[in-house]
Amino acid sequence: MLLARREFIAGAGAFAAFSAFPAARQTRVAGLDPNLMVFFADVHQHDGRAHWPDWQYTQANKVFPGLVAEVLRLRPLPANAVVFGDFSTSFGWEEDFRLAAAALKPLADAGIGLTLGMGNHDNRAAFMRVFPDYAARCLVPGRIVSKVSTPNADFIMLDTLKARDGKDWAEPTEEGNHVEGAMDAAQRAWLRETLSGATRPTFVGAHHRAQEVGIVPELVAAPTVYGYIFGHEHTWADGFLHDGYANSRTVQTATLPSGGFWGDIGYALFRTFPDRAELTVRQTDFWFNRRWPEKPRPKNWGERVRMHNGRTITFWYDKPSNFYKG
Ligand SMILES: [Fe+2]
Repeated sequence: MLLARREFIAGAGAFAAFSAFPAARQTRVAGLDPNLMVFFADVHQHDGRAHWPDWQYTQANKVFPGLVAEVLRLRPLPANAVVFGDFSTSFGWEEDFRLAAAALKPLADAGIGLTLGMGNHDNRAAFMRVFPDYAARCLVPGRIVSKVSTPNADFIMLDTLKARDGKDWAEPTEEGNHVEGAMDAAQRAWLRETLSGATRPTFVGAHHRAQEVGIVPELVAAPTVYGYIFGHEHTWADGFLHDGYANSRTVQTATLPSGGFWGDIGYALFRTFPDRAELTVRQTDFWFNRRWPEKPRPKNWGERVRMHNGRTITFWYDKPSNFYKG
């Protein structure tokens, strides 16, 4: 379902202000580094409703704008910002997306292009009302899928939201979506076709693990896919994908911290070069089930910040054919 751009803007009403968000940056702009992107995941904005009003659920409303402000102090600025889903705390209320849009607006005002993905706590209908311009950028009918080309590499954002009972565009309810991700046949076919024709270094992103949505064979087989980056787990981590021990090809992975709601808290900077990309984490905090801010912080919370902050995962553009098959 790809609605015309005009229909979305006409239906946007009071949210038309957010339609001014710039599309992903594909060209050089003064002050913006076209080979630098900032990655946020799981920003979990909270609409302040009576349910779950306590400290931990509303904390991200303060933390995420603070992380954005920190990014805006960087020089040069990243030309692109990516959000890997879970804009909303839980059910995808429109107000959650409005809060996320307000937090992202300073990036847009600085000319930074936005690429946005869907998480299990999001709702496509509410998202599209708040980000109406995004309709024009969706590459797969009915799915929030987009692609950014930068001088050194391409980046593809997939849509792994699995709505309950197949209600892909239903309004949000407290029933919520499935926690696990999924990918339908149409998006999978688009991914196969896109990757089979790819000749530039390509990075693929989504909210969920590749294993969970069954796209490991596609990523491993693609000769120019050098990395898969995802959120959902609120944990900074590296890893790799493989397609069974008979195939020696692998794909480096990275899991992103959360932009404000439990677990590893922070963002990551993604810098591409002609021969590699580097993803460096900026971790500002760690907490879990913190209903009691007055209690002392467990030692491991600070230790995780020290262990992670500043760590870099490198993705070399080096993917030989399967050693076993020659
Ligand atoms: Fe999340």
